[in-house]
Formats: sequence, C-alpha cells, structure tokens
Amino acid sequence: MSGFKLAIDGPAGSGKSTISALIAKKLNWTHIDTGAMYRAVTLKALELKVDLNDESSYRFLETTNIHYDFDRIFIDDRDVTQAIRSEGVTNNVSLVSSFPYVRRKLVDLQKQAANYGNIVMDGRDIGTVVLPDANVKVFLTANVEERAKRRYKENIKKGKDQHISKVIEDIVVRDQKDSTRKESPLRKADDAIIMDTTYLTIDEVVEKIIELTDKKE
Ligand code: C5P
Repeated sequence: MSGFKLAIDGPAGSGKSTISALIAKKLNWTHIDTGAMYRAVTLKALELKVDLNDESSYRFLETTNIHYDFDRIFIDDRDVTQAIRSEGVTNNVSLVSSFPYVRRKLVDLQKQAANYGNIVMDGRDIGTVVLPDANVKVFLTANVEERAKRRYKENIKKGKDQHISKVIEDIVVRDQKDSTRKESPLRKADDAIIMDTTYLTIDEVVEKIIELTDKKE
C-alpha cells in the first residue's frame, strides 16, 4: 500500500536527519536517511581500498546489501551507524555520490522503500528525483554559520574538537560539490516549500512540517 510521502531536502547541517527522525517518531512513520546510504557505500569503498575515482570500482554494490532501518544503517547486516560518521567518509562521500551508477543503485532502493506505508525521506534529491510525486516537499535551509555551529556542537558531544572555521570550510566545500555535480545535484524542487531554520528550534521546525502534512491529509 502506498502511503503519505514527505520529502525533506537541504544542504549539509540543515538538520534534515534529526528533524525527519523526530517527525517519523511522532507520526509513527518510516524514516529513511538517504545520506546515511551514500555514506555506507563510501565506507565500504574505503574498506575495500578501491579507486574512488573510478566508477567501475562501485560494482561491489551488485553483491552488497545496504539497508536503513529504524535509524540504523547496515552493510550486509553489519551495523555501521557510528562508522559512517568518520572524517574519511565525510571527506569522500560527495565524490562517491557523484557517480551515476552509485546514484542509480541507491535511488532504486529508496524508491522501493517508499512503496509501503507512510514515509519521511531526507536527502539532496528526494523532491526532485527519488519522490517527485511526494505529497509534501520541504527544502530546509539555514545560514552557513548556524549550520556549522550545530555541527560543531554535535562534534563536541562526540568528543571531536574541530575548530569552527574548519567546520564551516567543510560544509561550504561539500555544498559546493553537491550542488554543482551533473547527476541530480542538490536543488530545491519547484513545488517544495522553503523553510529557513536559522532562528527556529528543532521542535518548532518539526511542528511546522507536521502542520504542512496535516493540511495535505
Ligand atoms: O545527509 P548527509 O550530510 O549525511 O549526506 C552525506 C552526503 O551524501 C552528501 O554530502 C551528498 O554528497 C550525499 N547525498 C546525496 N544524495 C542524497 C543524500 C546524500 O548525494 N539524497
């Protein structure tokens, strides 16, 4: 049964995954963090030590199972939820996700996941490519300083003390790569609602998005 589809896109650090997870919990919907899936492919490629610049390196996806379930991500049943947040993965994920072969594989999985029940899916191309028929599309933004501040605080909690200027630089570089790649770049869908979260709390954003879904139901 096909249910309600909520698509949430936005740049790095805009709060997409946190907000999507909270909405899914409140509404008892399925949540898929597609960024975690691209990160899992990157982790596997790094572990296999393949040439990251060669699209044919990613053929391992023919026999690898990438699976997102209840806010945990698995590679062949191995829980890699922590491992995909490493610096090595973050620095290479934009390159890995720029290959059409990788995108095709993951987009197929994401489309399949959306076929059953109500879903909130977050990423960069959900409203434009993965779920162009979504019932509600939201494009989250926040100024880069605020996004970096959020990421910095998350890092501190995890025991990683990286200077804020480096966090800003990483975000700017990743956004630049994600929005200029040829294959499904980060872009607001024409029918998406822009929500600037710079001055909003997480709970306020969650409430606003749930209101939008209520109106459409
Ligand atoms: O959301 P997160 O920052 O974890 O995503 C990691 C990376 O995965 C992004 O910087 C982008 O390169 C890639 N990505 C993508 N398409 C998506 C989701 C993520 O290309 N739908």
